[in-house]
Amino acid sequence: QKGGYPHFMLKEIYEQPDALDRTIRPRVSDGLPFLEEDGISDSLFDGIKNITVVACGTAMHAGMVGKYVFESKLRIPVNVEIASEFRYKDPIIDKNTLTIVLSQSGETIDTLEALRLAKKKGSPVLSIVNVKGSTIARESDYVLYTHAGPEIAVASTKAYTVQISAMYLIACRYGLVKGIISEDEAREFIKNLENVRSIIEDTLKNANTIKMVANRIMISPDVFYIGRGIDYTLCLEASLKLKEISYIHSEAYAAGELKHGTIALISENVPVIAIATEKDVYSKVISNVKEVKSRGAFVILVSHDDDINDTSVCDMQIKLPEADSVFSVFATAVVLQLIAYYTSDAKGLDVDKPRNLAKSVTVE
Ligand code: F6R
Repeated sequence: QKGGYPHFMLKEIYEQPDALDRTIRPRVSDGLPFLEEDGISDSLFDGIKNITVVACGTAMHAGMVGKYVFESKLRIPVNVEIASEFRYKDPIIDKNTLTIVLSQSGETIDTLEALRLAKKKGSPVLSIVNVKGSTIARESDYVLYTHAGPEIAVASTKAYTVQISAMYLIACRYGLVKGIISEDEAREFIKNLENVRSIIEDTLKNANTIKMVANRIMISPDVFYIGRGIDYTLCLEASLKLKEISYIHSEAYAAGELKHGTIALISENVPVIAIATEKDVYSKVISNVKEVKSRGAFVILVSHDDDINDTSVCDMQIKLPEADSVFSVFATAVVLQLIAYYTSDAKGLDVDKPRNLAKSVTVE
């Protein structure tokens, strides 16, 4: 069942290139995105002025990555809401808001209730779901299935990256239909999206370095993740994953926020995992890294840059294959999943079944 892997989680991490192919390929024709066969006609986008994403946990973090792409590439405002908050307020949505619901299981009760509320408010609901025929899929106006295959490990891995790819397909189709991006731009975007498969495969070759990082952080009571922009959203997910399966306390911070309080917690030898894939803010992240390094932090840098063999910047580095940050999120996600996995395994914990957690949260 585990296909020769010691745990489902590791198997599912390695399945990501194939899972992404299965989600992306059927929706690409002649290099362009098509969602008609999923019953999602372009008329869905008529009159849509903004988007609200509702989800929980890891699925919500996938929504945050999608927000970044919709906003930076298409200039469409996206609100990402935690489903358990959304459902108890009076959300400002109507027929001009497209509600995108993200759920692996399709059964998360807070997400389901958020969906019902969105429909009541007249907002069309498009859900991105992995489990066929699940309640969320059945109750949505439109469904884009991810084809990750069954996810057994409690900690979500492949479902997260395919959810991101589904958000990208929707964004690309939306941009094309609305004339925000040209056909050439859409083709280039899709080409890059199809290429993430090989970026992930290259990244998986770094497993030994990642194991060394895990061996270093497993002895620490606290770990910090820092990054800016799209990398900050990856930090939130990485921190959740580490807490969930290794029981190590960790926090994710937008790197520029450190000096507004958190830097007080940076002490001798505390591991700080810094993600720096965005060219526009790269030097800003590196200067934040130097700030924590000078306070004694043990810095692990995840970036594209080859030049950092400088111990004034980092103690360890995990290099990512060169790619635009919008597409390197997939490789970054794999690195961060593996850090959590190897840390939990090195601590001898039950990786696939962490304490106090269920795979599908159907109670409030
Ligand atoms: C964390 C994790 C959870 C789920 C969340 C939503 O690894 O798996 O945070 O992402 O419970 O579940 P779904 O996607 O099934 O709605």
